[in-house]
Amino acid sequence: MDLTTQYLGLSLKNPLVAGAGPVTGKLDNIRRLEDLGAAAVVLPSIFEEQIAQEERLMLRLTTLGVDSCAEALSYFPSAAFYQTDPRRYLELLYRAIRAVDVPVIASLNGISDQGWIDYARQVEEAGASAIELNIYFIPADLQMTGSEVEHRYLSILSAVKQAVKIPVAVKLSPYFSAMGHMACQLVEAGANGLVLFNRFYEPDVDLTELQLLPNLELSTAAEIRLPLLWIGLLSGRIRASLAASSGVETEDEVIKYLLAGADVVMTTSALLKHGVRYVKVLLEGLKDWLSSRDLDSLEGIRGRLSQCSVSDPTAFERANYIKILQGYDEDR
Ligand SMILES: Cc1cc2nc3c(=O)[nH]c(=O)nc-3n(C[C@H](O)[C@H](O)[C@H](O)COP(=O)(O)O)c2cc1C
Repeated sequence: MDLTTQYLGLSLKNPLVAGAGPVTGKLDNIRRLEDLGAAAVVLPSIFEEQIAQEERLMLRLTTLGVDSCAEALSYFPSAAFYQTDPRRYLELLYRAIRAVDVPVIASLNGISDQGWIDYARQVEEAGASAIELNIYFIPADLQMTGSEVEHRYLSILSAVKQAVKIPVAVKLSPYFSAMGHMACQLVEAGANGLVLFNRFYEPDVDLTELQLLPNLELSTAAEIRLPLLWIGLLSGRIRASLAASSGVETEDEVIKYLLAGADVVMTTSALLKHGVRYVKVLLEGLKDWLSSRDLDSLEGIRGRLSQCSVSDPTAFERANYIKILQGYDEDR
């Protein structure tokens, strides 16, 4: 069966990608993910704050205490402190690339276009197949306008694109007043792909202690609806790859995303829940489903239910909502 797909100009053996998260942060897991069938691996993000911290440290090392030898020693951080995450990240990337044949995608998580872009170059030099740029920005400043937020995304992307030649995918949130136009602007600014969507950390409330609870829930299949909507709306209408990220619990979600038009489907929570071997379960499920319909490649299904392809394009829009509500009235 031919499950091959193209993502960011890379040829992948199938559409299942291990998404950014703790599972892909370990070399052993990356090896096993490849063995079990994952077509590519996205490493967990390295954060702008971590890179900036290392740069501040380097500045301290190169500028402080140069003329006071005895005291200078106390400025020197311990070896453990010096081993900050950005170095370990590059090391993981470097080792992963050598350990597996599938593409390894680095993930940079930033909110400004200054100070850390050089790191994108280092990621490219280490051999990453592509960069996933996770712009995790919550516009908590009430004075900030929508166009300022959009400008920030575009200027971060432009800065990274200027720094590297490898493909860059933008992982973004759905919270734009004109998501479709934002997607077009990102593609115009050079995005080779869009990852839909980023999942923002949202605090919960502890009703006993009356405190905010900083926990991170794993996703459920109910969460595919919003990315499914936007993949369906964008598929065939933008010149960039589309990756689905959110809510893959079973092969059903993988198939639905492909039908909507995703080029690849990423999974993170399911791997955390069931372990890396779940990649194989999802892939076998996809193959069985295709076989049960006498299909021997993805071509017959990819984008078949995108807005461009369905006979009633309003199925994605307001008119359908009104139809559904009318149905509720009639049922009562
Ligand atoms: C524990 C955990 C850690 C994550 N870490 C990252 C990360 O480092 N970078 C990133 O872009 N996304 C990260 N994500 C988000 C996932 O890559 C993914 O976009 C999101 O969880 C939705 O996909 P899922 O439903 O398959 O989990 C993380 C998610 C979880 C649950």
